[in-house]
Amino acid sequence: MRKKIVAGNWKCNTNLQEGTDLAAAVDKLVAEKGADDVVVILGVPFTHLTNVVKTVRTNRIGVSAQNCAAEPKGAYTGEVSAEMVKSTGAAYVILGHSERREYYHENSEVLNKKLALALKNDLTPIFCCGEPLEIREANAQNDYVKKQLEETVFQLSANDFKKIIIAYEPIWAIGTGKTASSEQAQEIHAFIRSAIVEKFGKDVAEEIPILYGGSCKPDNAKELFANQDVDGGLIGGASLKAEDFLGIINGF
Ligand code: PGA
Repeated sequence: MRKKIVAGNWKCNTNLQEGTDLAAAVDKLVAEKGADDVVVILGVPFTHLTNVVKTVRTNRIGVSAQNCAAEPKGAYTGEVSAEMVKSTGAAYVILGHSERREYYHENSEVLNKKLALALKNDLTPIFCCGEPLEIREANAQNDYVKKQLEETVFQLSANDFKKIIIAYEPIWAIGTGKTASSEQAQEIHAFIRSAIVEKFGKDVAEEIPILYGGSCKPDNAKELFANQDVDGGLIGGASLKAEDFLGIINGF
C-alpha cells in the first residue's frame, strides 16, 4: 500500500512567530482530528525549520525545506546546504518546484546536483514536475512531464528512486484557483506511473507516491484524492490556514 501524503508548501510566507504558531495549530488539529493513516509534511522557510521541528509533537507530521543548495558546502553566500537542512531535524526537501525553475532558473543539471545531495544526507526529496499552460493547451503535457523526469529523477538508481516522492503540479493551476479536473489529474498521474513502470518496473512504480498540486482546497481534495493514482497533495495557499489544511488531510 502506498502512503497517503499531504504536504504543505508555505513558500515565502509567515515570519518566525507566525510560522511557529501555524505549526503548533496544525500539530494540535492533526493530533485531535486528523486521519491517522495520512503522513503530513510541513514545507517551511529555512529560518523556521528548527523551531517547527521542535514544535511538532505528532509522529505522523514531518518537516521539509523548500530547497537546498546544489553544492555540499563552501563559498556560496546565502545558500543553505542539504546537510544543514538535515541537521535541523527536517526529513524532506521540496526540489524542482516550478517557481524555482522559473524565477531562479533551476534546470535539470542543477536539480540533479540537489537531488544527489539531498539523498546523500538522507532527506526525502519531494520532486516537482508539471507543464505550463501552452503545453497543456497543445495537449503535449505527457511528453513534457516525461522529459522533465527523464532528465532528473529517472537518472537515479532504482534504489535511490524508491526514496523519492513525486509531485505533479500543472503550472497553470498553481495559485490560480484553477485546479486540474479529477480526470485530468488521474490521467497524467497514471501516465507518470506508467513511465516509472517502463523505467524501473512495476514493483517500484507501485510504491512511489505521486502527489497532486495546484489550487487544491478542502472542497476539491476529496475528488482529487479518490483517484487511484493520486496519493495526496502538495498544498500552497490552503496550507497557510490550519483548518483548511486539516480539511485537505481529511480528504481521503
Ligand atoms: P497552490 O500552490 O496550492 O497555492 O496552488 C501549490 C504549490 O505551488 O505547491
